[in-house]
Amino acid sequence: MLGSPCLLWLLAVTFSLVARSQLLTPQDFKEEEEDETLRPPLPAVLCDYDSCRHLQVPCKELQRAAPRACLCPGLSSPAQPPYPPRLGEVHVVAETGSAVVHWCAPSSPVHQYWLLLWEGSGAAQKGPPLNSTARRAELKRLKPGGTYVVCVVAANGAGESSVPEAGGEGLDGVSGPTFGPCGRLAVPPRSLTLVHTAVGVGTVLVLLTCSALVWHFCLRERWGCPHRAASLPTAGL
Ligand SMILES: *[C@@H]1O[C@H](CO)[C@@H](O)[C@H](O)[C@H]1NC(C)=O
Repeated sequence: MLGSPCLLWLLAVTFSLVARSQLLTPQDFKEEEEDETLRPPLPAVLCDYDSCRHLQVPCKELQRAAPRACLCPGLSSPAQPPYPPRLGEVHVVAETGSAVVHWCAPSSPVHQYWLLLWEGSGAAQKGPPLNSTARRAELKRLKPGGTYVVCVVAANGAGESSVPEAGGEGLDGVSGPTFGPCGRLAVPPRSLTLVHTAVGVGTVLVLLTCSALVWHFCLRERWGCPHRAASLPTAGL
């Protein structure tokens, strides 16, 4: 009667082996899958984000929409006011008395921007709020010959970016291209363009008079009718 326990034992061992192999197979696959997810992903690329580009969508939104993971520049905490934006090119259009101001976003979360404009030592004029995609704004009704200081301000839920010594001696120190939020702009005097026009018209008049005189004294004489020209004024008198 030793045969039946032995047979049972053999059966049990085979079943358990089969069962184990069946159990192991999916587990092994799982482990392989886990290995794949643990493998470092392809080196991520930078998102197509330019802090100075006008109508730039925030990098976080680019990241959400990107088909592949991409990297965004680090930002300061949203619980802090933004760092000041960096003023870029200021293009003055003298004819229309306007200027186009460019800037670059700070590395902070920003909800909106606006411009501040000082003329001389007067009070600051605040421009309309611009949404966080804006990097360019137009200043209008600038006076010919006027000099101004313009600053870009960024704001978020925690406050607004700082402006160096607003409206006073501090801004007199701002000159030329800066790396800060402020810059000077000078509108050329309109009288200059008037002077240019006057000089141009004057030159044309002088040239016309000269050619008329040359024609009168030289050419008509050569063609043999100077007497009529000379006699006309006396006849009039
Ligand atoms: C932001 O403002 C610009 C115009 O200055 C506009 O074209 C754009 O649609 C605005 N974006 C959002 C998200 O409101």
